[in-house]
Amino acid sequence: IITIAGFGSASALAAKPVVMGFSQVGAESEWRTANTLSIKDAAKKDGINLKFADAQQKQENQVKAIRSFIAQKVDVIAFSPVVETGWDTVLREAKAAKIPVILTDRAVNVTDTSLYVTFIGSDFVEEGRRAGRWLLERAKKTPDRTLNIVELQGTVGSAPAIDRKNGFEQAIAGNAKIKIIRSQTGDFTRAKGKEVMEAFLKSQGKNINVVYAHNDDMAIGAIQAIEEAGMKPGTDIIIISIDGVKGAFEAMIAGKLNVTVECSPLLGPQLMQVARDVLAGKPVPKRITTEEGVFPAEVAAKEFPNRKY
Ligand code: AHR
Repeated sequence: IITIAGFGSASALAAKPVVMGFSQVGAESEWRTANTLSIKDAAKKDGINLKFADAQQKQENQVKAIRSFIAQKVDVIAFSPVVETGWDTVLREAKAAKIPVILTDRAVNVTDTSLYVTFIGSDFVEEGRRAGRWLLERAKKTPDRTLNIVELQGTVGSAPAIDRKNGFEQAIAGNAKIKIIRSQTGDFTRAKGKEVMEAFLKSQGKNINVVYAHNDDMAIGAIQAIEEAGMKPGTDIIIISIDGVKGAFEAMIAGKLNVTVECSPLLGPQLMQVARDVLAGKPVPKRITTEEGVFPAEVAAKEFPNRKY
């Protein structure tokens, strides 16, 4: 019997189906729905027994779910952490129980990185940079124009909200005419994106030239608020967002959204493969980064039929 990195034995694992405990953030966006589907489908296809828990965007629910997976002695735990910090204790418990942990989609901020085996997901800082670079290119058309940006941030303390803000700020830094005038969280949801945009419009009105939304759902909420205020999103106000869900492509085709930076939720097949590799004792990279593109409105109609989420 070969003992694998302290996580079990090859012969025992071959005998029974792999059990994976997965703690999902919630169902806050079109992206998340596609991500959940991808994970459930991939587990089914791969013959992995998936124990799925929806945390409804609450860290305490994720901690409870992970503790319950440990108590059930699952073979592997995977989760998409709602926020970056506060994971050390529960991850130490998983390590003590010799259950490997795989992070998907979002990173954690822990001092001991041996508490998880690998992290599969996008480079959120780069996504923010791509959004900022797109705006810089666009600004070249009107070099004398000041561009006042309002930013709709994702969930406070989450990796994508922190990183997408940083990346975007890095890209636009040093341009006196391009500046963020207001920034607030819309918690990655359509309803909150709309609510926050309404407040921005009330306080800033026609001063707003650009919306930078950390995800498509908030951008779609903002589009509704702008239309209700009697303005044309995509024309009167430039709209930039992240994810690349079908709803964003529809908005681009309708001329209401200017660009979406892709963030793929289709992590399921890769997660199942990595879980099998970890349990088989194969070495896996500490960071597995998803490949993604940028889709401006000009290519939306052509790309739409190819979109898988
Ligand atoms: O962590 C990925 C982000 O979470 C997606 O951009 C967003 O739509 C989701 O809610």
